[in-house]
Amino acid sequence: MKKIIIGNWKMNPSSVKEAVSLVSNIDKKISSNGNVVLCPPFIYIGAVRGALSKKSSIKLGAQDCFYEEGGSFTGEIAPSMLKSMDVKYAIIGHSERRARGESNDIVNKKIRALLKKGIKVILCVGEEERDETGLYLKRIEEQVKEGLRGVSKNNFKNIIVAYEPVWAIGSDASKNCDPKDIKEISIFIKKILVDLSSREIGLSVQIIYGGSVDVKNAPEIVSNGGVDGLLAGRASLDAKKFSDIINLLFS
Ligand code: PGA
Repeated sequence: MKKIIIGNWKMNPSSVKEAVSLVSNIDKKISSNGNVVLCPPFIYIGAVRGALSKKSSIKLGAQDCFYEEGGSFTGEIAPSMLKSMDVKYAIIGHSERRARGESNDIVNKKIRALLKKGIKVILCVGEEERDETGLYLKRIEEQVKEGLRGVSKNNFKNIIVAYEPVWAIGSDASKNCDPKDIKEISIFIKKILVDLSSREIGLSVQIIYGGSVDVKNAPEIVSNGGVDGLLAGRASLDAKKFSDIINLLFS
């Protein structure tokens, strides 16, 4: 299975000019056989798309989406709108959205709406903290199961699960997640997916890791963490850092 690298720009950069310059620089620096998804803020998607070279290996992703197809929903973006902008992926259930009230139920509605339009879903799951009693495993299990409720087995090929322990994300991360713990969770998630579908289907879903990914830890996370790719936040805002990670994995 070809690895995948996803860049989540979050609410950055602060101008469309910077967004265009960032994506052009990344595009120039990366090898053509990469499998890369960039998720800019909605408002930059058109400009970022326009800045990609003809042979670019970068695909477009969104950081969220609404679950209705249109109507009186001020400020929201529908899956069909994303599709019309060539967006192939959408991150759903990022912890920064969950922290602002997004429930597993809303995550599930968004996932189903996106799949209906043929947009692939990057479902983010992860615990806020690790407790001694293993309650965090229950939380991850719920996020996977409830997020995928009603999703047909046929659609599992359009799902990527990103394990993102909340305590390892962002500049205030308490520490990095050990690759052996990443491996444990990736096996745990695979088992849930197998139970929800079949052995063959469950094992074919890509599991990726996100949380303070950088050039130094990326190779180890991929080789010892047993994941099929990475989701980078801060590192994706620096063309050199992000392209170095990509080139390391796709050289
Ligand atoms: P980070 O963000 O790489 O800056 O820790 C990761 C994420 O939130 O997806």
